[in-house]
Amino acid sequence: MLEKDVEQHYGGCSSDLEEKILGTLRQKGKDIHNLKLADLSDLDELHLLKQEATGEMASLLNLRPETRVLDAGSGLGGPSRFIASEYGCYVTGIDLTGEFCEVARSFARRFGLQDKLSYLQGTVLDLPFEANSYDVVWTQHASMNIREKVLFFSELARVLKPGGFLACFDIIAGSGEPVVYPVSWAESEKISFLASQEDQLQAISQSGFEILSCDDRSQKALAWLEAVLEKQLNEEETASLTYKLLLGERMNTMMSNQIKNFQTGRTKVVQIIARKPDEEMSFIE
Ligand SMILES: C[S@@+](CC[C@H](N)C(=O)[O-])C[C@H]1O[C@@H](n2cnc3c(N)ncnc32)[C@H](O)[C@@H]1O
Repeated sequence: MLEKDVEQHYGGCSSDLEEKILGTLRQKGKDIHNLKLADLSDLDELHLLKQEATGEMASLLNLRPETRVLDAGSGLGGPSRFIASEYGCYVTGIDLTGEFCEVARSFARRFGLQDKLSYLQGTVLDLPFEANSYDVVWTQHASMNIREKVLFFSELARVLKPGGFLACFDIIAGSGEPVVYPVSWAESEKISFLASQEDQLQAISQSGFEILSCDDRSQKALAWLEAVLEKQLNEEETASLTYKLLLGERMNTMMSNQIKNFQTGRTKVVQIIARKPDEEMSFIE
């Protein structure tokens, strides 16, 4: 039921999303038969700080061509395409929103990355993968829609190989003051489940991970949001264009509310890196 609401939130307002994205690129003067990944980078990363956040997190994970990554809540596939093309690794994406998975598959083919990338529609709360099958589990801006945090992180821990990394970039609760809605991940608190930093870290540890770092990116994200909104209001550039396609006219209100939430400390955004202990290694140590 909740999952239907989440899928409806992301996928319910826009059909023919791929066509619409390509149409926008055409309008921007891009040759859609010779697209470069960079042409899409403003459009296909559905999180704060977009590729800057993805590039920074990826640089911490020792990614190599043979690395197998799971992207939990993979959206339109922007982060996975970036990782596969920069590092050559294999990425599987899983996402509730069917249309996002279709667009992600189609863009993987368009960029000749179909051997490295695969996407399936499903819930991250019941992963259809064997235990110990990934080297890295990656997630950005999905846990905000997930009530069962320990189940979520336990599923990620189950499919991760011992010694592998968990990388998360998520909006969390700040001061405890109520969040102002609507925001880009939820119209109301019905599908929004922000944990405090302490509870998020606790859920990750309880799920079997050892926390390596937790970095607050709120100030950077606030400055970025303010710049994006200003551009949008001046209609210089549709900086968060895919969100606009998905969320329509509500977009500017959502962005203003997000700015309000960061300015008043109601929300924070953190990058967390954790590791699944390698029991054999600890034994030897
Ligand atoms: C804000 S988007 C972020 C997408 C992508 N991670 C990115 O950063 O570009 C959140 C995504 O999480 C997905 N999602 C939320 N809850 C999920 C769940 N329980 N299982 C799978 N996907 C989920 C949504 O469908 C949506 O595509």
